[in-house]
Amino acid sequence: MTRILITRPLPDDVIAAAEDLFEVELREKTTPMTRTEMRAALALYDGILPTLGDRFDATTFGDGTHRCKVLANFGVGYNHIDVAAARGAGITVTNTPGAVTDATADIALMLMLMSCRRAGEGERLVRAGAWEGWHPTQMLGLHMTGKVLGVIGMGRIGQAIARRAHFGFGMEVVFSNRSPRQTEMPARQLDTPEEVAAAADVVVVAVPGGAETHRMIGAEFFAAMKPTAHFVNISRGDVVAEDALISALQTGGIAGAGLDVYEFEPQVPEALRALENVTLLPHLGTAALEVRVAMGRMAVDNLRAFFAGQTPPNAV
Ligand code: 8YV
Repeated sequence: MTRILITRPLPDDVIAAAEDLFEVELREKTTPMTRTEMRAALALYDGILPTLGDRFDATTFGDGTHRCKVLANFGVGYNHIDVAAARGAGITVTNTPGAVTDATADIALMLMLMSCRRAGEGERLVRAGAWEGWHPTQMLGLHMTGKVLGVIGMGRIGQAIARRAHFGFGMEVVFSNRSPRQTEMPARQLDTPEEVAAAADVVVVAVPGGAETHRMIGAEFFAAMKPTAHFVNISRGDVVAEDALISALQTGGIAGAGLDVYEFEPQVPEALRALENVTLLPHLGTAALEVRVAMGRMAVDNLRAFFAGQTPPNAV
């Protein structure tokens, strides 16, 4: 029987769907796999269902042959897997697009509002017992409705964010994307991310992680942003030069930031944690049971198709 390793605890429905089709081994730890574990898994299982943090890099694949023929990633982002090296080792990689889009866009909108309206700061004030009561000029933030949203990376998630911002909050949308992109809502494509930074009141980064986008948002980008503007990242932490972001927040180069991801996740620098004008979430992008079930079912379906001799629906 086909042997599958699932590298983290997943919702029961997903495990049941996998067990209906395969002989399944469950790894109980919630931490990323070590290289030793990954190498052993490549030798022992026909397929692996890995996720964020399981760094299947070229060294892990080595030059040996593996029993494993497919990595069905749980998550749309697969920058932790060296896809070219996997291919070289005869291993197919799949991901879970679509399943994550709305939940991730929802988190972006939450961070946009939280940053603009100083929700984290206000919550900390109340919890600290330091709130002295309402007055007309207390904790004034940025009124988000009707402002300009800048989206960096207009893929599925970028468009879902733009749709919410445009139809829900009357925002004008500008964006950058590596190729020309038609959108279903009125939106203006600009030539560079820096042009978007300069035009926007709220910027959201929604590009995929990986070598091409590594630290693409840096000092130059933050210098282009308005001092009144807010910055949100729901993509991958290392798309942003975190040191440059911290400096922009500390010096008033930008007004605030909302982050779901970090350059050296799960480490969040003390300098960032010390700032009032930043909202920090622990990578909650898709953290809702039905979303995680949908992602898991999609990953299992990719495995099913692969072992049925079909092209998996979400091969990357
Ligand atoms: C996932 C994500 O929950 O799908 C993605 O790529 O960023 C998250 O929302 C997590 O990263 C698992 O891949």
